[in-house]
Amino acid sequence: MLLTDAVRARRSIRAFKSDPVPESLVRELLEEARLAPSGTNIQPWKVHVIAGEVRARLEAEVLAHRETDPADAAAEFPRRSGARRDPYVTRMRTLGKAMYGLLEIPRGDQAANWRQWGRNYQFFDAPVGLIFTIDHDLDSMSFLDIGMFIQTLMLAAAARGLGTCAQGAWNNYWTVTKQVLGVPDDQHVVCGLSLGWPDETAAVNTLVTEREPVEGFAVFHGF
Ligand SMILES: Cc1cc2nc3c(=O)[nH]c(=O)nc-3n(C[C@H](O)[C@H](O)[C@H](O)COP(=O)(O)O)c2cc1C
Repeated sequence: MLLTDAVRARRSIRAFKSDPVPESLVRELLEEARLAPSGTNIQPWKVHVIAGEVRARLEAEVLAHRETDPADAAAEFPRRSGARRDPYVTRMRTLGKAMYGLLEIPRGDQAANWRQWGRNYQFFDAPVGLIFTIDHDLDSMSFLDIGMFIQTLMLAAAARGLGTCAQGAWNNYWTVTKQVLGVPDDQHVVCGLSLGWPDETAAVNTLVTEREPVEGFAVFHGF
């Protein structure tokens, strides 16, 4: 697949077939993702690739913790500052409306919302989950590096027909996630990623999100 086709084909996938993704294929994706650039080539990304029994344990423990202590949704590092104003809030609401519409979850149905958000912690039933971590003491530039790494990984997956969904949701309940995966105290959980074969019959996977036109965000100088 051409790179441009993979860029256009990639969409967030939130329902997966049960078909396994072999370890060798995940390794192939990581071989490509590691070619992502990083400032001064420090390559700050660390990845936990999770399947089978560990995945089941992580899911069970995070979901159980979430039921008993929903307030532990505090992110490990500030990630929401500034995003609750326009134009961002409108874009976020547009996404929510479209996605919850496809899932047939009525507006204001808190219980259904809570359940659906909980699907994040099941990696939307994807056979493989990934958790990205980063050393505490690195600065914000390193978060750019890890973002580039994740996008390269998602495009490598899309080029092979695999589906992905980046999941900031994993930045919540990081205490349990760190315990189950043995993440050292000097690392942050940045986010997660679901990886698997898209369930083409699922309505939620038909979601095509909007983008601003180039004129909306680019200023050209000197042309
Ligand atoms: C850093 C990051 C965190 C995200 N976190 C979540 C998440 O926790 N749960 C989820 O369902 N989607 C999550 N998404 C997916 C976004 O909602 C999605 O990328 C956006 O709506 C654009 O849609 P598209 O990926 O289909 O193009 C995340 C995406 C990114 C890049």
